[in-house]
Amino acid sequence: MKAKDEDEIIAKSRRPTLAGPTAQARQLAEATARLKARRQRDALPLRIVTPRLVLRGPIRGDVPDLVRLADNAAIASRLARLPHPYRTADAIQFIDVIAQQPDHRAYAVTLDDRFIGVASLMFHANKPPEIGYWLGEPFWGRGLMSEAAKGLVDAAFATGLIPRLHGRALKTNLASQRIMQKLGFTITGEGIDDVGPVKGREVVFLDCEAPRWT
Ligand SMILES: CC(C)(COP(=O)(O)OP(=O)(O)OC[C@H]1O[C@@H](n2cnc3c(N)ncnc32)[C@H](O)[C@@H]1OP(=O)(O)O)[C@@H](O)C(=O)NCCC(=O)NCCS
Repeated sequence: MKAKDEDEIIAKSRRPTLAGPTAQARQLAEATARLKARRQRDALPLRIVTPRLVLRGPIRGDVPDLVRLADNAAIASRLARLPHPYRTADAIQFIDVIAQQPDHRAYAVTLDDRFIGVASLMFHANKPPEIGYWLGEPFWGRGLMSEAAKGLVDAAFATGLIPRLHGRALKTNLASQRIMQKLGFTITGEGIDDVGPVKGREVVFLDCEAPRWT
């Protein structure tokens, strides 16, 4: 092969693939949506204080309480993504990896400086952030998750960047639905969940709009 032909082949193989205007517009729209979700996440405070609780980033010191409380089938069976059984490695992965992901803002819910549960928001491009939470069983029934979730929802809307929040709960999980409804979420539909231990079970979807004052 002549040197000139080889040069042409190399030049072609190095040429970037040119996307048409539609594909470019779609890529730009996707990148913008991801950036918007990231901005929403970054606008949330690192610490939320409520009358009885402090919500803050999970730390390695939470591992023993996290393992003790999360290793509970009564909790895992109501959540899509909590491993069961729950081991030290799961706790470390949650603190060091999952909670650090750019589409996730996870708070350790603490009472008197002790870890008692998790409240979080997941940020998906082109979708409202989705609230999630669980509380260690010894602390159920004292209004604590209502208080933590209210702190999180208020903080989200106070950013001024989040017009709507989304939630989901098993149809049978009336306590969780009650918490969200007390915060202004309304049921928007029903479906079948498709992830983890809740796969195939009936869920309700809920949405909450930012109050008008934000
Ligand atoms: C759901 C969960 C977070 C509730 O935490 P909690 O601190 O006990 O909840 P609160 O005490 O703040 O509020 C629960 C509300 O539900 C109500 N409730 C509880 N059980 C109920 C039931 N079986 N039917 C109807 N309402 C119920 C309570 O009366 C309370 O409402 P009220 O304040 O009007 O009295 C906790 O049980 C948990 O972690 N469960 C496992 C994980 C989970 O379900 N996470 C949510 C996934 S969507």
